[in-house]
Amino acid sequence: MVFPQRTFTCGELTLSNREATVVLNGWVHRFRNQGGVAFITLRDRYGTTQVVIDERSPAGLLEQVSCLKSEFCLAVSGTVKARPETMRNPKMTTGEVEVVAREVQVLSSAPTLPFPTEDDNKANETLRLQYRYLDLRSTGMKDRLILRDKVTWSTRQYLHGLGFLEIETPTLIKSTPEGARDFLVPSRVNQGKFYALPQSPQLYKQLLMVGGMDKYFQIARCYRDEDPRVDRQPEFTQIDIEMSFVTAEDIYSMMEGLMAKVFSDGIGYDLKTPFPRLAYDTAMELYGSDKPDLRFGMPMKDFSVFVPGSGFSAFESVLETGGLVKALVVKGAAEYASRKKIAEWEDAAKVYGAKGLASMKVIAGADGQPTLDTGVAKFFATMSEGILRELEAAVGDVILLVADQPKVANTSLGAVRLKAGRELGLAKAGEFAFAWIVDFPLFEFNDELKAWEPAHHMFTMPQARFLDTFDTDPGPVKGDLYDLVCNGFEMASGSIRIHDPAIQQRLFNTVGYPEARAKERFGFLLEAFQYGPPPHGGIAPGLDRLVMVMSGQENIREVIAFPKNTLGASPMDESPAMVEDLQLKELGLKVVEG
Ligand code: AMO
Ligand code: AMP
Repeated sequence: MVFPQRTFTCGELTLSNREATVVLNGWVHRFRNQGGVAFITLRDRYGTTQVVIDERSPAGLLEQVSCLKSEFCLAVSGTVKARPETMRNPKMTTGEVEVVAREVQVLSSAPTLPFPTEDDNKANETLRLQYRYLDLRSTGMKDRLILRDKVTWSTRQYLHGLGFLEIETPTLIKSTPEGARDFLVPSRVNQGKFYALPQSPQLYKQLLMVGGMDKYFQIARCYRDEDPRVDRQPEFTQIDIEMSFVTAEDIYSMMEGLMAKVFSDGIGYDLKTPFPRLAYDTAMELYGSDKPDLRFGMPMKDFSVFVPGSGFSAFESVLETGGLVKALVVKGAAEYASRKKIAEWEDAAKVYGAKGLASMKVIAGADGQPTLDTGVAKFFATMSEGILRELEAAVGDVILLVADQPKVANTSLGAVRLKAGRELGLAKAGEFAFAWIVDFPLFEFNDELKAWEPAHHMFTMPQARFLDTFDTDPGPVKGDLYDLVCNGFEMASGSIRIHDPAIQQRLFNTVGYPEARAKERFGFLLEAFQYGPPPHGGIAPGLDRLVMVMSGQENIREVIAFPKNTLGASPMDESPAMVEDLQLKELGLKVVEG
């Protein structure tokens, strides 16, 4: 097709281009035909420019453009003119000029769109995913993909600046355990055998260290067969990093520098480094989460001392069975916390197994002194002074209580903290509170399987003080592992790795991989560790989550060009889909009807 090619983009022209003859290529963003004069707002990735067709245009052009509709793709030739003073828009780069059209060529037409491209996020999501290419024309999606590109680019710049090598690792691999299910790919050449898609490049990056590559990174695609959530996709991207001859401190400072640069380059935000560090146990006790939203405080406190003798049997019986009572003070929320609101918070607590959510309010009593009122206040009247002092509660505050075993009490009241904090506007948009969560347990006990599992993955080094006992007494063991959290999301996870094959085998034994099984699954790693492996460690920030948090979104799909929906499907190309019988036959596979 021969067509006039653009000499400028739609976001570029200013008064300095006055009287220039230009060509623009773009889409009809808006079209207004007002009789003797028509206006086209022409749009491309870079912005919009106003095109005018009036008496200054060639005869017949006005009639020719009357067929135009939104989202037609055009080539417009014309002359740049200053807009009349009253029509200038100083908020737009191109707001002081317009292009008086000499020629308008329709490059392609479009029927009425399934949803307007102007309304970012407003259309039904299934429709947006089905017509993602149209959704990408919205300013919001476009800006987020541009931000994603900036983040990727500044990551590459930063890591190259520090001497990292960007190295690709295979995506048809032998299964890597990261705790999710693998996506499997059947082999035609080796019938009955399967590749797995990597859940992460974990083993390969460790082998790159054995290979002497020293500082590695990769913008790596990862695949996990688990149910999608707001911050989780079956295929996603990690900024995967590994370094030799390092301690956790080196990883922290490298990452803090990376985050500072990415936030500065991406959104002009000045992150304060170093980030605070919080032990896992402390995070659970204070915030009931290993990824607390630290944009606000509101830590939980232990209320147990006030329970004995209170006469509130629901609480007393919990203490007798080894549980505790946790308290959360929601400042100044007495009016906000209606009965209905407290019932809503109670439902949020129950999701995490709480049996209830008890409450009381602090009011000014007859003598003007702060007094406990409503809910379970009657049980604690005689202790009110001590309670108010210990909880630092004042008139107008609401006190929320959960009695249970520590894990349930912490996580359920922690969920209420997060919900209430966000509802009350304590978690401010545009603020970013990073922290390292450290001193994680190395193992978790799987009650169903009655077995120890790695809390992170099975290549993480136990902290030095547990090196003798980690396999005989796994419960108390802490690992040399760390998470980077921000605004209530886990942004990155990593660890110092085991590089001693004997320690690795002891750890395999602990998590159900005795020698024969470990050899079958990870024999190549154990073998590699015979050949002078360097001490090494690494980390992997999730790129999608990072861009999601930076752009203030709460749904990971908003920062991915072509994401999967909540069922792991793509409404646009309808994957996953059936395949031809012949394809199955070649692979030696048969679909068994469920
Ligand atoms: P981990 O499994 O914790 O660690 O993943 C690291 C980071 O990747 C992101 N992430 C995801 N993002 C979107 N969708 C998902 N389904 C998803 N799963 C994880 C998160 C998370 O913090 N190999 C180790 C890293 C290491 O030890 O170096 C690993 O993959 O932001
Ligand atoms: P009840 O005495 O069972 O009527 O409960 C009185 C209040 O205490 C209700 O608001 C319950 O939700 C709450 N409650 C009961 N059990 C617990 C618990 N284990 N933790 C927190 N609140 C509870």
